[in-house]
Amino acid sequence: MMCAVPLGQLFQTKSLDELIAETREAGHQLRRALGPLNLIALGIGAIIGAGIFATIGTAAAGDVQRPGAGPALMLSFVLTAFVCALTAFCYAEFAAMVPVSGSAYTYAYATLGELVAWIIGWDLILEYAIGNVGVAISWANYFHTWLETMGIHFPRWLAIDYGTAMARMPEVVEQAPHVAGVPIVLNVLAFGIVMVITAVLVWGIRESARFNFAMVAVKLVVLGFFLTVSLHHVQSANWHPFVPNGFGGVAAGAAIVFFAYIGFDAISTTAEETRNPQRNMPIGIMGSLVVCTVVYIAVAAVFTGMISYGDLKTTLATEQAEPLTLAMKHVGMSSWMVGIVAFGSVVAHTAVLLVFQLGQPRIFFAMARDGLLPQVFARVHPRFRTPHVATIVTGLFVGVTASFTSLDAMVDLTNIGTLFAFILVCIGITVLRVKDPGRPRPFRVPLGPYLIPTLGVVSCLGLIYYLPPSSWMRFFGWLIVGAVIYFSYGFRHSRLAAPAAAPAPPPQPAS
Ligand code: ALA
Repeated sequence: MMCAVPLGQLFQTKSLDELIAETREAGHQLRRALGPLNLIALGIGAIIGAGIFATIGTAAAGDVQRPGAGPALMLSFVLTAFVCALTAFCYAEFAAMVPVSGSAYTYAYATLGELVAWIIGWDLILEYAIGNVGVAISWANYFHTWLETMGIHFPRWLAIDYGTAMARMPEVVEQAPHVAGVPIVLNVLAFGIVMVITAVLVWGIRESARFNFAMVAVKLVVLGFFLTVSLHHVQSANWHPFVPNGFGGVAAGAAIVFFAYIGFDAISTTAEETRNPQRNMPIGIMGSLVVCTVVYIAVAAVFTGMISYGDLKTTLATEQAEPLTLAMKHVGMSSWMVGIVAFGSVVAHTAVLLVFQLGQPRIFFAMARDGLLPQVFARVHPRFRTPHVATIVTGLFVGVTASFTSLDAMVDLTNIGTLFAFILVCIGITVLRVKDPGRPRPFRVPLGPYLIPTLGVVSCLGLIYYLPPSSWMRFFGWLIVGAVIYFSYGFRHSRLAAPAAAPAPPPQPAS
């Protein structure tokens, strides 16, 4: 059945010139309003969230599956920044050369062919949708902590998943109401915030640069507040031993905190709305990475200086992970200070949720427009001009998953999926340099077409190696499901394979 369709289709590419020409068509031109500072702010808006507020606890302390970095968490952040910088160069070359929306999915379609484009599109669901599951769970943790500091006691059994409660807080399971002997433990808070965000996005939100600047300001101010009030609680004794589990601990920590850097690649999706993208794209991508790295290393240094590696391990075994407020409570800070950090963290998480929840339906939209997903995903709401079906499907998927899953498992799955997308982007740079050497490249990955992309691939593989094997298996299962969907649907309905038979492209969404 499948052999009836030419296998060459798997490697058929979209023409870069056509992609660029499409963006110049009358009626499809977006306004080029973003400069370098807007891009750096957009990057920080997408980057700083659950990673720094939630994953650093497990990264420093480790868990049953892996060793912790301990105070060398700072080195984990440096290591991951290095890995991201290698890939960021590749994203910058692509974004400057092909300044069209669609990011890695579009780049892959233009360079490596339809099958790889599908794999990346499918894989990006892990980055955006599953990533948001993690952010929603972390949002719920900090929201719960903030409510507590306000004297409001929201039931714990409605703010945690069953697995985490069983492992760390079995008393919550005992106290929860039981129906027919089954305890009711689910994260209603995480589900609720995702539903609110989904409703806002269906209604239509115009991401104004001013709104984003405000969110970024809150994130940086709250982290600045944390650093300021915590600094004099740092005890250098807590930094000894600095590397309790050797390089293995540092690398395992790096693989976890990779989550904190995800988002810099999302800047490339705004290439069509950027002034002088050839110059500003690389500045935006690399600039936001540099700012976040500096902030992360400072927070890691203070956090590990406030609570010893041993105390952190013991505490995390019996509590859910809100590491920053946990460290503040550990040194006895007053409730209002903890409340400020918890509230600021809730705002920071909300911004990330919005950006990622906005991105996922647009990837579905692009894939449906290419015929790889059913046309219903490309439907645009007649009044709100938003891709409402894709937005609601994304919201339900993220919200329901967030009610039942644990933060660590979702972070691991997001990381492996995103690292895999990064690997394909790095390979794409080398392939395109060989296939199309004469194409104007306003920004080039330094040191030639091989060194940095190859180092990017190897270092991403290295981080994947340090993720737990359970996440490799889940990722493998995800790819198999994707392959089944592609061969049973996308392969037959692709517009590239059968342009004449394909439906007319649906209109663009408004936001
Ligand atoms: N980098 C984003 C965060 O940390 C995904 O929330």
